[in-house]
Amino acid sequence: MFPVRLTLDPAFRVGPVRRRTFGSFVEHLGRCVYTGIHDPAHPTADADGFRKDVLELTRELGVSTVRYPGGNFVSGYRWEDGVGPVEQRPARRDLAWHSLEPNTVGVDEFMRWADLAGVEPMMAVNLGTRGVQEALDLLEYCNGGAGTLYADQRRANGAADPYDIRMWCLGNEMDGPWQIGSKTAYEYGRLAAETGRAMRMVDPGLELVACGSSGVVMPTFGEWERIVLTEAYEQVDYVSAHAYYWEEDGDLGSFLASATDMDHFVEAVTATADAVRAHKKVDKRIHISFDEWNVWYQKRAESKPPTGDDWPVAPVLLEDRYNVADAVVVGNLLISLLRHTDRVHAASLAQLVNVIAPIMTEPGGRSWKQTIFHPFAQASRHAVGDVLQVAIDAPTYETARYGDASLVDAVATRDPETGATTLFAVNRSLTEPALLEVDARALPGLRVLDATTLANPDHTWSATADDDTSVAPRPNTTAEVRDGRLTVQVPPVSWNVVRLGA
Ligand code: AHR
Repeated sequence: MFPVRLTLDPAFRVGPVRRRTFGSFVEHLGRCVYTGIHDPAHPTADADGFRKDVLELTRELGVSTVRYPGGNFVSGYRWEDGVGPVEQRPARRDLAWHSLEPNTVGVDEFMRWADLAGVEPMMAVNLGTRGVQEALDLLEYCNGGAGTLYADQRRANGAADPYDIRMWCLGNEMDGPWQIGSKTAYEYGRLAAETGRAMRMVDPGLELVACGSSGVVMPTFGEWERIVLTEAYEQVDYVSAHAYYWEEDGDLGSFLASATDMDHFVEAVTATADAVRAHKKVDKRIHISFDEWNVWYQKRAESKPPTGDDWPVAPVLLEDRYNVADAVVVGNLLISLLRHTDRVHAASLAQLVNVIAPIMTEPGGRSWKQTIFHPFAQASRHAVGDVLQVAIDAPTYETARYGDASLVDAVATRDPETGATTLFAVNRSLTEPALLEVDARALPGLRVLDATTLANPDHTWSATADDDTSVAPRPNTTAEVRDGRLTVQVPPVSWNVVRLGA
């Protein structure tokens, strides 16, 4: 067992916990929508065809916002196809995922689902094959009052009140060569600026997200953000960030340190945004919408879109099965997002159901929780109040991908009203338990309310429909507070949550 010293202090406040950190993502991709959230043949389906079991799991997961309808899908999407009488809606080929889109679910159905799930929608407009006018039309359909074409269409389609959607994504991953209608940074920056400007003529209070590059590994990274923000700074509030991680060639050590990469990613994007700001000499700061993040094994066969003449509806795509190590990485990525709450103002776990997802379903059958469900649900439930940076004095280990990395990573939150404090910590060691010795004397009077650990001697263990509870977080009975010092033992490859209160 190796000792690690941590310090909790309210003076280490980074900023408030933001509910939007706990967002997710529903794309028309694979079985996320069809047989995921929507499955009229399912025994729990409501009158609209929404699975109540999935709604229940979504609420249990504690999702705050849901980004919709893509993703790559949005870059070829005609939102008008998905409104009005279902039997009159056209089927279309979705070029992004080589699938047939039946348009059974569209904006109105999604908004009904979002209402039932208790989530805030985050709507994306198509800036791949479309432009300013279609974005304005969709905005009018969603948020218009009455007396104009699209607002009246929405009313005729059954939604009398405007949806009042606040957050809008101006396209998706527009630098990606795989993207339909991909663009240069300058082309996209201009289009985002013009679209944002026009949307704000309708409603100056909209919160708009410009696409950042598709990831830190892209050759566009950095320069893309600089050019796009130079063009669109005044018209947007956020720049998006996307990052996916996976264990490559058995290099578990690097994989477990993925959050160090996310830390650098956030810091690089904020530095670029602030450099543009300095150049423009304006007060306004651009924040990050980390609206796609997760573990995703992109090299697996099921990550490749189908080929051939048969364009299937809702094929099995990107249905990664997550193990214990994946859950520890997801927990650590949440630690990173929380630690950057001063600049990351929204985030979306990509995605919600079936597609690289915490929730899995069988068509017409069972639903279950993947391992990554647990850290997300716990962080969403227990991160309350302020985020506190945790000072960590831990041994490091060498990783092939990210250089030296700390064996333990952690962040804390504290509710200033009640004093309730939660420590979230991961042990990245492959073999050794850690003894966390936490100096919490700056927060007097705390005792352990409860402590849980997610770990398994076999870190490759994955949940199935038959057993999704064997690696749910278990009580950690080693946690105790004495004289303002918390000690807790955490096993190798583990995600841990210690709740402290008066
Ligand atoms: O989340 C899966 C895909 O990953 C999204 O459609 C796209 O935006 C990203 O490349």
